[in-house]
Amino acid sequence: MKITLSLAYSALFYGLSFAYETVEEAAVIARSLVDHSADFIGTMATTFPSNSPILPGQPFSLQEYYASCHHNGSLTLLFLPISRHSRNILASPGRSASISITSEIPAASRARLALIGNVTIFEDLKGVPDVDSLQRCYLERHPDAKRWLPDDEDAAHISYWARFDPHSIYFVGGFGGEHYIGFIPLPMYQAVGDIERSSGGAGTILLQD
Ligand SMILES: *[C@@H]1O[C@H](CO)[C@@H](O)[C@H](O)[C@H]1NC(C)=O
Ligand SMILES: *[C@@H]1O[C@H](CO)[C@@H](O)[C@H](O)[C@H]1NC(C)=O
Repeated sequence: MKITLSLAYSALFYGLSFAYETVEEAAVIARSLVDHSADFIGTMATTFPSNSPILPGQPFSLQEYYASCHHNGSLTLLFLPISRHSRNILASPGRSASISITSEIPAASRARLALIGNVTIFEDLKGVPDVDSLQRCYLERHPDAKRWLPDDEDAAHISYWARFDPHSIYFVGGFGGEHYIGFIPLPMYQAVGDIERSSGGAGTILLQD
């Protein structure tokens, strides 16, 4: 009886309680985390190819630099063929990867999101749209990357500019009873860039616990 009651109580608490943010607000918070990150480092996840001699089909996650230089929330990456992630992405037919980004002080009660998408690698530097402003934007976030820029013969590693285009966005606002948890439609996530531009930046968004 006691168990039934406490189960009913939890169902009431988690099921009927309100969410602080709507999905539209979740999209704004998501873009705020992506665009105004303290370090512009996300956790990237890729999958070892099924014919990998090491860890076939196994997941792999590791931190990765990114920069948010596009209005639609696609991310700019420096793609180093030598890296494990890059090799997994190249072996994946859809060039698939996921990147997760969390609040400045990560906690179960705080917002975070996972972007699932595809990586477009620009093997020809001349084919990179707006490469100068892209490079400037990226180096503002990651000044140390000047040592491994594409087309630098003295660079420590071969690298290429790449763009990560999310096709799905999964958002966890915090505890489920209090926050929005679920997918954010791509057009909603992409449109926040236009709101930010017209309101002169979204630096004022309050991220609740
Ligand atoms: C992105 O990845 C998904 C999942 O692998 C795939 O279905 C889709 O075709 C890919 N899109 C592009 C543009 O490569
Ligand atoms: C995002 O914008 C860039 C240009 O800034 C474009 O190349 C890319 O295709 C867009 N991505 C998506 C998913 O719409």
